[in-house]
Amino acid sequence: AEGKKASFYEINREAAAFFYRNFTKKANPAYDYMIKRGLEPATLKKFGIGYADEEWDSLLNYFLDKGVKPELLLELGLVSESKGKFYDKFRDRVMFPIINTRGKVIGFGGRTLHDGTPKYLNSPESPVFSKKNNLYGLNLTRQDINKENYAILVEGYMDVISLYQHGIRNVSASLGTALTENQAAMLKRYTDHIVLSYDADSAGQAAAARGLDILHKTGCKVKVLHVTDGKDPDEFIKKNGKEKFLKLVNEAMPFAEYKIHLLKQRLDIGTTEGSVTFLQEAAHILKDVSPVEADIYIKKIAKETKISEGAIRLEIYGNNNSEPIRTP
Ligand code: UTP
Ligand code: MN
Ligand code: MN
Ligand code: MN
Ligand code: MN
Repeated sequence: AEGKKASFYEINREAAAFFYRNFTKKANPAYDYMIKRGLEPATLKKFGIGYADEEWDSLLNYFLDKGVKPELLLELGLVSESKGKFYDKFRDRVMFPIINTRGKVIGFGGRTLHDGTPKYLNSPESPVFSKKNNLYGLNLTRQDINKENYAILVEGYMDVISLYQHGIRNVSASLGTALTENQAAMLKRYTDHIVLSYDADSAGQAAAARGLDILHKTGCKVKVLHVTDGKDPDEFIKKNGKEKFLKLVNEAMPFAEYKIHLLKQRLDIGTTEGSVTFLQEAAHILKDVSPVEADIYIKKIAKETKISEGAIRLEIYGNNNSEPIRTP
């Protein structure tokens, strides 16, 4: 089985090299597309970006000539099969190889060059690819994550590549799925400080809210960043540059603040019932944060709800004088 796995990695590596040659050695629409999106040749090379051409059998024939069995290509999701005939799965797409932290090509994402759906086609689960156990870009960025002692977690391939090109290299993406516990644990090997920077749309925000809880549960200190211009980090940094993005990182909302912000969106604190529920749920959130941090929010909440600090502390700690912070 290990021998078979090795040959899967080898086939993926050769497929990545094939797509890369298509992208770099002759004129092709994928290269033009990526340049138009502001990416530099050095960046494209660093990420091994490639092109799957329009034919139905380019990659298939390349491997058949090498004596590779199409059944293996099928298992990797490089080809599909219909009525006993094999054909290339990725056609006319920009190809993003997904490489694990041991440097093995485990799968691909392919972006359409047109408006067709799906926008991104990804390798299926295979003997060497498990989406929920991998993060995009980590092969290139884990040293930077470790050095900076925080990771910026984004949604997409393009966000990773774009931030990287702008000099923000402590970045990774969760491969389009909702963040999993395994992915959180994986990041935690390099840092326990995470800045979630998902897309500004409602899908992105919902995914951020879920990711936040998973990272918190894993024991990470997590903050939420909101792009204020453009729909995702790629668009933001393209328009506003590195320093402005780093400013957003600085202003990212810490876990508790963000959770309270979500509560306020959900509940009407103008009503008695709303403010009681708000207070109970906020107390639940503040139980788990450091007393220093909790103290800041207690003061804010007291101001906003006109409920006394003492009552809020009672709700959180069960008594109203256990707050550890007093200015001497
Ligand atoms: P987005 O739709 O936000 O795309 O999906 P994007 O990354 O901003 O791409 P561009 O800028 O339009 O090129 C975010 C991520 O979700 C996954 C991909 O990993 C993508 O990068 N995704 C999205 C899919 O897997 N399939 C899709 O059809 C769409
Ligand atoms: Mn730390
Ligand atoms: Mn999106
Ligand atoms: Mn985008
Ligand atoms: Mn996006």
